[in-house]
Amino acid sequence: MTGEPKQPMGAFERLREASPTISVGVLTANLAALGSELACLEGTGVQLLHFDVMDGCFVPMMTVGPPLIRAVRAPFLIEAHLMILDPLEKIDAYVEAGADILTVHVESGQHIHRVLQKLGRMTNARDPDRGLVRGVALNPGTPLSTLEPLLDDVEMVSLLAVNPGWTGQAFIESTLPRLSKVKKMIAAQGREILLCVDGGVTRDNISRLAGTGVDLVVTGSAVFDGKAPAENARFMLERLRSRPH
Ligand code: DX5
Ligand code: ZN
Repeated sequence: MTGEPKQPMGAFERLREASPTISVGVLTANLAALGSELACLEGTGVQLLHFDVMDGCFVPMMTVGPPLIRAVRAPFLIEAHLMILDPLEKIDAYVEAGADILTVHVESGQHIHRVLQKLGRMTNARDPDRGLVRGVALNPGTPLSTLEPLLDDVEMVSLLAVNPGWTGQAFIESTLPRLSKVKKMIAAQGREILLCVDGGVTRDNISRLAGTGVDLVVTGSAVFDGKAPAENARFMLERLRSRPH
């Protein structure tokens, strides 16, 4: 009926509608001035920020956690990419800090299916109408078959195109055929699941992802390069949405 108030769109629906889009990694932003750094991205078409959470155990580096996620007041969806060991008891802090997407690694604990079940029962602390998007991530060396028992309990699959732990690494070529195989697995599942690729995506190679069916591309150092984040973000979005070569 016209005139009906538009239902607020959940996080998943917003990302599906924006697909294909970029998810901007914030680690290479000037974290001492994160508010103004993120303000540069407003109006560029960016919908999603990507916080790389590293615990120094699952990956050698340690980075940020719930306090920084809680501090963000920008009008973007927030993904917490949890590169942490045994996330089962730790995810609550990231949900409470206001993450909209929580991405856990299949390699990070014995009970990943249980983590996803638990997330499926939780509420978005920032805005209950948004819902929570459950992401599952695979390192480049992890067989895609590990996804099979999880596809009923995720809203997003993320393939790492680098071995996790650092920004600015080179894109691992074998990711491209893996993306098309996961695309087929999702189609066979018969439910909508977003496909994401994370790591090593730059101005020079993002066009290779156009037309692959990927919904989200995480890109950090190609946007926050210390010079022109807004122009970089617009460039990356335009190339991702360009006609495939
Ligand atoms: C790697 C992270 C990626 C990485 C992306 O461990 O999961 O999100 O920071 O950064 P760039 O785009 O610089 O590879
Ligand atoms: Zn990441």
